[in-house]
Amino acid sequence: MKTIGKRSWPVLFVSDQVQQQTDEGDWLRAIVQHLTAENGCTVLFSSAYGDAHDMVYAREDLGTIIVDWESKAFGRLHQKNEALNEADAAARFVAYVRRRNRTIPILILSDRSSIESIPNPVLELVNGVIWKLTDTAPFNAGRIERSVVDYMYTVLPPFFRSLVEYVHEYNFAWHTPGHMGGQGFLKSPSGTAFHKFFGENVLRADLSISVPELGSLLDHTGTTGAAENYSAQVFGADRCYYILNGTSTGNQVVWRSQVSPGDRCLLDRNCHKSLNHAMIITQAVPEYMVPVRNALGIIGPVDFAKIDQAKAYVMTALTNSTYDGICYNTIYASQHLQGAGILHFDEAWYAYAKFHPIYRDHFGMALGSRDKLIFCTHSTHKLLTAFSQASMILVKFPRDIFGSPEKEDGFHDLFNESYMMHGSTSPQYSMVASLEVATKMMDDNGSIAHADIMEEAIELRRKIARIKAEECGEGDWFFGIWQPESIVTKTTQELIENQANWVLQPGDAWHGFPAEGLSGAYTMLDPIKLTFLCPGVDVQGRWQEMGVPAAIATRFLGDKGIVCEKTDYYSWLLLNSLGTTKGKQGTLLAELFRFRELYKSNAPLEQVFPQLVADYPARYRGQGLQDHCRQMHGYIRERGLLDKMVQSSKIIPDQACIPAEAYRAIVKKQVEFVRLDAIDPAVNPRTTAVMVVPYPPGIPILMGGEIINEKTRPILEYLRERQNFENRFPGYSGDIHGIERSQPDADGQVWFEFMLIKQ
Ligand SMILES: Cc1ncc(COP(=O)(O)O)c(C=O)c1O
Repeated sequence: MKTIGKRSWPVLFVSDQVQQQTDEGDWLRAIVQHLTAENGCTVLFSSAYGDAHDMVYAREDLGTIIVDWESKAFGRLHQKNEALNEADAAARFVAYVRRRNRTIPILILSDRSSIESIPNPVLELVNGVIWKLTDTAPFNAGRIERSVVDYMYTVLPPFFRSLVEYVHEYNFAWHTPGHMGGQGFLKSPSGTAFHKFFGENVLRADLSISVPELGSLLDHTGTTGAAENYSAQVFGADRCYYILNGTSTGNQVVWRSQVSPGDRCLLDRNCHKSLNHAMIITQAVPEYMVPVRNALGIIGPVDFAKIDQAKAYVMTALTNSTYDGICYNTIYASQHLQGAGILHFDEAWYAYAKFHPIYRDHFGMALGSRDKLIFCTHSTHKLLTAFSQASMILVKFPRDIFGSPEKEDGFHDLFNESYMMHGSTSPQYSMVASLEVATKMMDDNGSIAHADIMEEAIELRRKIARIKAEECGEGDWFFGIWQPESIVTKTTQELIENQANWVLQPGDAWHGFPAEGLSGAYTMLDPIKLTFLCPGVDVQGRWQEMGVPAAIATRFLGDKGIVCEKTDYYSWLLLNSLGTTKGKQGTLLAELFRFRELYKSNAPLEQVFPQLVADYPARYRGQGLQDHCRQMHGYIRERGLLDKMVQSSKIIPDQACIPAEAYRAIVKKQVEFVRLDAIDPAVNPRTTAVMVVPYPPGIPILMGGEIINEKTRPILEYLRERQNFENRFPGYSGDIHGIERSQPDADGQVWFEFMLIKQ
């Protein structure tokens, strides 16, 4: 079984003396020898500061850093023409380490005669000084070991530590789960393979709810409750509830706790399916805020000017941020949602916002006015580091509850009834630990980690924009990025520091949202969400002869192991997160260049997409990549597919019944599947049983209980065009929730079928 003891936290010596045949070198080597042989620690060396910088940037497993105050090897830290002395270099390095990690022990190695040269601000940042050539090697090694051990204990937050300690106690399990610490798997070859793959620790940490040391998730007590409280504090909430079934469940818990049958609610039409499910279980009566779109179909913000401020709603839900990274100024949003009793920000993709000043005032928990009850739901697993499905509900109390322990507990007692309805009695403790650790990571150095991500994302943005602007001659092309033009002219630092660079101004050309759909500067673009643009059509809807549909580009990238988050018709989305590395970005650029070369040479599809040709030889054999792009681009353009998608998204259909009633028809089996082409809205309007959500772009175009009639004709036309597209380009069918596809008929044609309420 793997343990995480002091060996897992190496000591880094930054000194140019370790290898030297000097007194000092001998003295240092004796300490190192003792530290490794007697004290059971591991060590790393760096003889120059430039190198040590890189190690500190790349390695978060260091246990203590020893900095030699007299070291002369500056390495890359030394800029040309810079008068840097040893003390400056050491001080600069210490400041860098402390900026990246608030708590790692730093010990200075210094000659007694140099004490005067260590300035107080440096002494304030370090944890101690070791005088060179004094004290014995065992004594110095012991001091260093102690600092590693002390630090190691602070690294593990309490729940995770309890879990690790419990596992290390080697208890005999007499409780569920049935594999009992993994032992059960070893009773068969396939189970043994499972055991080998996941490793013993994962299985030993899979425990029953009957382990009292870990507290109770359903009651929010013990170490589990403490972990939730810690997350609340770090994420700026009054309460936090861990959810182990994703924000899909988190959203339903929130709504079920506050909404009763018949309550009128206001939802972003760009809402996740789980909010539709929340409406079904609560029997809410929905009204919608419709987001604006540009000609590429990219979804923008809702326009608050169109909301009737006098109308009262029990609950409102806003998707913050959108897929493409549009984030709301939540102060502005709350001022323009006056009629809403409770604000719910679905921040599934945006859990990091609190940890970088660029997002100031643009996340739900930033709201400090305490006018209303506020909920934020976070998929901590999406862009932070929790295990898949591990999410959080954050709560901020209004002033009539906040600060009164009685009232806050009263809120909790009622809220928890909804929580329990969705919570399993067999929680996965590793998921709880992953939520706590994701919290600790943000607490320790969230803003630094996020600044790193942002820097990478911005540099990629600038690079792509430059290639397009400077290296593409007449008649040449490259992919672009959806962003303000000024990104190229500003420095990365300016862009990281100044939110104004990312704010969407009404009427700006770059975003393409029509001025009548965006009545104020109340949203910003998230720098780390990268929407790539393909040649073929621009954000204003101006078509070019030449075009590369995004589905073709992302199929190519996917085959090369670069999996995109979302593909639209002429744009695709990549996310930067804690797992993004420079290597990933370099590979992406290299593959985009390669795609362009293959396009230019009209490389055979047999070579570019062998699987596609193997699956549909009659359709694609003998074509080149350029032919393929030309055909698909021409088809999308001539059939107005993109425009039909945009038009269909502007409609809010009439409601025959609320989503809950439509769902009831499913339970009572009063539904039928009807082919799209068999629906004649003019003659016989029909009612949908379920919501219909086409990907791209993943926004519902019909909700359960809505009527397919003359008003929704553009929706039918869009779906019909999409069906034809899929038949014309097999292998490119996207996902559409709520639509079933028939088996191919004698001509190979596939038909879309709707689930409708029987008449
Ligand atoms: C806006 C939004 N809310 C909620 C969810 C559901 O999150 P989860 O996958 O954690 O259940 C998603 C998932 O994609 C989403 O996009």
